[in-house]
Amino acid sequence: MPQLRLDKILADSGAASRREARLMIKNGLVTVDGEVCREADRKVDTETSRVCVEGKELRAGPRYFVMYKPLGVVTATEDRYERTVLDLLPPELRKLGLVPAGRLDKDTSGLLILTNDGAYLHQVISPRSKVYKTYLAAIDRPLDGTEQARFAGGIVLGDGTTCLPAELDPVDSLHCRVTVCEGKYHQVRRMFAACGRHVETLHRESIGALTLGRLMPGSVRELDRGEEQLVFKAR
Ligand code: URA
Repeated sequence: MPQLRLDKILADSGAASRREARLMIKNGLVTVDGEVCREADRKVDTETSRVCVEGKELRAGPRYFVMYKPLGVVTATEDRYERTVLDLLPPELRKLGLVPAGRLDKDTSGLLILTNDGAYLHQVISPRSKVYKTYLAAIDRPLDGTEQARFAGGIVLGDGTTCLPAELDPVDSLHCRVTVCEGKYHQVRRMFAACGRHVETLHRESIGALTLGRLMPGSVRELDRGEEQLVFKAR
Protein backbone atom coordinates (compact mmCIF):
# COMPACT_ATOMS: atom_id res chain seq x y z
CA MET A 1 0.00 0.00 0.00
CA PRO A 2 1.54 3.37 -0.98
CA GLN A 3 2.09 5.87 1.76
CA LEU A 4 -0.33 8.79 1.64
CA ARG A 5 -0.29 12.27 3.13
CA LEU A 6 -2.22 12.39 6.38
CA ASP A 7 -4.55 15.20 5.21
CA LYS A 8 -5.38 13.17 2.08
CA ILE A 9 -6.16 10.09 4.16
CA LEU A 10 -8.63 12.09 6.23
CA ALA A 11 -10.21 13.68 3.17
CA ASP A 12 -10.47 10.35 1.28
CA SER A 13 -12.15 8.73 4.27
CA GLY A 14 -14.91 11.34 4.20
CA ALA A 15 -14.02 12.53 7.71
CA ALA A 16 -13.42 16.08 6.46
CA SER A 17 -12.60 18.18 3.44
CA ARG A 18 -8.87 18.58 2.71
CA ARG A 19 -8.90 22.08 4.26
CA GLU A 20 -10.78 20.91 7.35
CA ALA A 21 -8.40 17.96 7.61
CA ARG A 22 -5.38 20.29 7.75
CA LEU A 23 -7.04 22.31 10.51
CA MET A 24 -7.92 19.21 12.51
CA ILE A 25 -4.35 17.97 12.21
CA LYS A 26 -2.94 21.37 13.20
CA ASN A 27 -5.26 21.46 16.21
CA GLY A 28 -3.98 18.12 17.47
CA LEU A 29 -7.18 16.15 16.87
CA VAL A 30 -5.47 13.46 14.82
CA THR A 31 -3.32 10.62 16.09
CA VAL A 32 -1.19 8.15 14.17
CA ASP A 33 -0.54 4.95 16.11
CA GLY A 34 -1.58 6.67 19.31
CA GLU A 35 0.65 9.75 18.92
CA VAL A 36 -0.72 13.20 18.07
CA CYS A 37 0.54 14.22 14.62
CA ARG A 38 0.41 17.89 13.64
CA GLU A 39 2.01 17.53 10.20
CA ALA A 40 -0.54 17.39 7.39
CA ASP A 41 2.12 16.20 4.93
CA ARG A 42 3.26 13.27 7.07
CA LYS A 43 3.27 10.11 4.94
CA VAL A 44 1.30 7.28 6.52
CA ASP A 45 0.68 3.69 5.47
CA THR A 46 -3.00 3.05 6.22
CA GLU A 47 -2.53 -0.71 6.18
CA THR A 48 -0.03 -0.76 8.98
CA SER A 49 -0.86 2.45 10.87
CA ARG A 50 -3.93 3.31 12.92
CA VAL A 51 -5.23 6.81 12.25
CA CYS A 52 -7.78 8.26 14.70
CA VAL A 53 -9.71 11.53 14.61
CA GLU A 54 -10.83 12.64 18.05
CA GLY A 55 -10.24 9.10 19.26
CA LYS A 56 -12.34 7.47 16.51
CA GLU A 57 -10.51 5.17 14.13
CA LEU A 58 -10.70 6.06 10.46
CA ARG A 59 -12.16 3.44 8.21
CA ALA A 60 -10.28 2.04 5.26
CA GLY A 61 -11.98 -0.27 2.74
CA PRO A 62 -15.70 -0.66 2.08
CA ARG A 63 -18.14 1.70 3.75
CA TYR A 64 -21.76 1.24 4.74
CA PHE A 65 -24.30 3.95 5.53
CA VAL A 66 -27.95 4.03 6.45
CA MET A 67 -30.00 6.93 5.13
CA TYR A 68 -33.46 8.13 6.12
CA LYS A 69 -34.70 8.76 2.59
CA PRO A 70 -37.19 11.60 2.65
CA LEU A 71 -40.15 11.88 0.28
CA GLY A 72 -39.54 13.60 -3.06
CA VAL A 73 -36.03 12.40 -3.91
CA VAL A 74 -35.24 9.61 -6.33
CA THR A 75 -33.16 6.53 -5.55
CA ALA A 76 -30.53 6.96 -8.24
CA THR A 77 -26.91 7.99 -8.47
CA GLU A 78 -27.74 10.76 -10.95
CA ASP A 79 -30.79 12.23 -12.60
CA ARG A 80 -31.12 15.09 -15.05
CA TYR A 81 -34.26 16.54 -13.49
CA GLU A 82 -34.76 15.21 -9.98
CA ARG A 83 -32.84 15.45 -6.73
CA THR A 84 -31.25 12.10 -5.91
CA VAL A 85 -30.41 10.46 -2.60
CA LEU A 86 -26.72 11.11 -3.35
CA ASP A 87 -27.44 14.85 -3.55
CA LEU A 88 -28.37 14.66 0.15
CA LEU A 89 -24.93 13.44 1.19
CA PRO A 90 -22.44 15.85 2.75
CA PRO A 91 -19.69 16.72 0.20
CA GLU A 92 -17.03 14.60 1.89
CA LEU A 93 -19.17 11.45 1.48
CA ARG A 94 -19.98 12.09 -2.18
CA LYS A 95 -16.54 11.02 -3.31
CA LEU A 96 -16.73 7.58 -1.68
CA GLY A 97 -18.52 6.05 -4.67
CA LEU A 98 -21.58 5.09 -2.63
CA VAL A 99 -24.58 3.60 -4.39
CA PRO A 100 -28.01 2.64 -3.01
CA ALA A 101 -28.51 -1.05 -2.17
CA GLY A 102 -32.03 -1.42 -3.53
CA ARG A 103 -34.49 1.35 -4.20
CA LEU A 104 -37.40 3.23 -2.73
CA ASP A 105 -39.88 5.09 -4.93
CA LYS A 106 -39.79 8.87 -5.03
CA ASP A 107 -42.94 8.94 -2.89
CA THR A 108 -41.71 6.34 -0.38
CA SER A 109 -39.69 7.35 2.68
CA GLY A 110 -37.52 5.37 5.04
CA LEU A 111 -34.48 3.20 5.40
CA LEU A 112 -32.04 3.00 2.52
CA ILE A 113 -28.56 1.49 2.60
CA LEU A 114 -25.71 3.16 0.72
CA THR A 115 -22.44 1.35 0.17
CA ASN A 116 -19.38 1.13 -2.04
CA ASP A 117 -19.09 -2.63 -1.45
CA GLY A 118 -20.35 -4.21 -4.69
CA ALA A 119 -20.46 -7.77 -3.36
CA TYR A 120 -22.47 -6.72 -0.30
CA LEU A 121 -24.85 -4.68 -2.45
CA HIS A 122 -25.47 -7.68 -4.67
CA GLN A 123 -26.13 -9.86 -1.63
CA VAL A 124 -28.63 -7.36 -0.17
CA ILE A 125 -30.68 -7.04 -3.34
CA SER A 126 -30.53 -10.67 -4.48
CA PRO A 127 -33.90 -12.42 -3.96
CA ARG A 128 -31.91 -15.52 -3.04
CA SER A 129 -30.62 -13.79 0.11
CA LYS A 130 -34.19 -13.51 1.49
CA VAL A 131 -33.56 -10.13 3.09
CA TYR A 132 -36.74 -9.04 4.93
CA LYS A 133 -37.93 -5.47 4.43
CA THR A 134 -40.71 -4.06 6.60
CA TYR A 135 -42.92 -1.18 5.48
CA LEU A 136 -45.60 0.82 7.21
CA ALA A 137 -48.39 1.52 4.72
CA ALA A 138 -51.39 3.82 5.02
CA ILE A 139 -54.26 2.66 2.81
CA ASP A 140 -57.39 4.35 1.51
CA ARG A 141 -60.02 1.87 2.79
CA PRO A 142 -60.09 -0.67 5.61
CA LEU A 143 -59.13 -4.24 4.80
CA ASP A 144 -61.86 -6.89 4.81
CA GLY A 145 -59.93 -9.57 6.73
CA THR A 146 -59.07 -11.82 3.78
CA GLU A 147 -55.88 -10.01 2.81
CA GLN A 148 -53.55 -11.48 5.45
CA ALA A 149 -54.06 -14.97 4.02
CA ARG A 150 -53.65 -13.68 0.48
CA PHE A 151 -50.35 -11.98 1.35
CA ALA A 152 -49.17 -15.14 3.13
CA GLY A 153 -50.10 -17.31 0.16
CA GLY A 154 -48.32 -15.11 -2.40
CA ILE A 155 -50.30 -12.26 -3.93
CA VAL A 156 -50.82 -12.35 -7.68
CA LEU A 157 -50.17 -8.86 -9.08
CA GLY A 158 -52.20 -7.19 -11.83
CA ASP A 159 -49.76 -8.37 -14.52
CA GLY A 160 -49.99 -12.01 -13.37
CA THR A 161 -46.70 -12.05 -11.43
CA THR A 162 -46.89 -14.13 -8.25
CA CYS A 163 -45.12 -12.67 -5.22
CA LEU A 164 -43.33 -14.70 -2.58
CA PRO A 165 -45.27 -15.11 0.68
CA ALA A 166 -45.39 -11.86 2.66
CA GLU A 167 -46.55 -10.88 6.12
CA LEU A 168 -49.38 -8.42 6.64
CA ASP A 169 -49.98 -7.08 10.16
CA PRO A 170 -52.81 -4.60 10.59
CA VAL A 171 -51.93 -1.71 12.93
CA ASP A 172 -55.37 -0.08 12.82
CA SER A 173 -58.13 0.02 10.21
CA LEU A 174 -56.11 2.15 7.75
CA HIS A 175 -52.49 1.26 8.60
CA CYS A 176 -50.57 -1.99 8.30
CA ARG A 177 -47.07 -3.37 8.40
CA VAL A 178 -45.95 -5.43 5.46
CA THR A 179 -42.84 -7.58 5.36
CA VAL A 180 -41.55 -8.79 2.01
CA CYS A 181 -38.35 -10.61 1.07
CA GLU A 182 -38.06 -9.49 -2.55
CA GLY A 183 -38.00 -6.15 -4.30
CA LYS A 184 -40.20 -6.10 -7.37
CA TYR A 185 -40.99 -2.74 -8.96
CA HIS A 186 -43.60 -0.86 -6.83
CA GLN A 187 -44.15 -4.16 -5.09
CA VAL A 188 -46.00 -3.12 -1.94
CA ARG A 189 -48.23 -0.65 -3.77
CA ARG A 190 -49.07 -3.30 -6.37
CA MET A 191 -49.77 -5.93 -3.69
CA PHE A 192 -52.38 -3.64 -2.15
CA ALA A 193 -53.70 -2.69 -5.57
CA ALA A 194 -54.29 -6.41 -6.19
CA CYS A 195 -56.54 -6.30 -3.09
CA GLY A 196 -58.37 -3.21 -4.34
CA ARG A 197 -56.61 -0.80 -1.98
CA HIS A 198 -54.61 2.30 -2.76
CA VAL A 199 -51.47 3.00 -0.74
CA GLU A 200 -51.57 6.63 0.43
CA THR A 201 -48.17 6.67 2.15
CA LEU A 202 -45.38 4.14 2.38
CA HIS A 203 -42.41 4.14 4.74
CA ARG A 204 -39.68 1.50 5.07
CA GLU A 205 -39.02 0.93 8.76
CA SER A 206 -36.41 -1.80 8.66
CA ILE A 207 -34.29 -4.15 6.62
CA GLY A 208 -33.70 -7.36 8.58
CA ALA A 209 -32.76 -6.25 12.09
CA LEU A 210 -31.46 -2.86 10.93
CA THR A 211 -33.70 0.11 11.78
CA LEU A 212 -33.46 3.88 11.35
CA GLY A 213 -33.06 4.49 15.08
CA ARG A 214 -33.01 8.22 15.77
CA LEU A 215 -32.02 9.26 12.24
CA MET A 216 -33.88 12.30 10.88
CA PRO A 217 -35.28 12.54 7.30
CA GLY A 218 -32.49 13.32 4.83
CA SER A 219 -29.64 12.35 7.12
CA VAL A 220 -27.15 9.47 7.04
CA ARG A 221 -25.25 7.49 9.61
CA GLU A 222 -22.23 5.29 9.02
CA LEU A 223 -22.78 1.75 10.23
CA ASP A 224 -20.44 0.43 12.88
CA ARG A 225 -18.12 -2.40 11.93
CA GLY A 226 -20.24 -5.53 11.39
CA GLU A 227 -23.52 -3.64 11.78
CA GLU A 228 -24.15 -3.97 8.03
CA GLN A 229 -24.72 -7.70 8.63
CA LEU A 230 -27.88 -6.90 10.63
CA VAL A 231 -29.84 -6.78 7.37
CA PHE A 232 -29.41 -10.55 7.09
CA LYS A 233 -30.79 -11.16 10.60
CA ALA A 234 -34.40 -11.53 11.68
CA ARG A 235 -36.15 -8.51 13.21
N1 URA B 1 -42.78 -1.16 -2.62
C1 URA B 1 -43.24 -0.07 -3.26
O1 URA B 1 -44.34 -0.10 -3.82
N2 URA B 1 -42.50 1.03 -3.27
C2 URA B 1 -41.31 1.14 -2.64
O2 URA B 1 -40.68 2.19 -2.68
C3 URA B 1 -40.82 0.00 -1.97
C4 URA B 1 -41.58 -1.14 -1.97
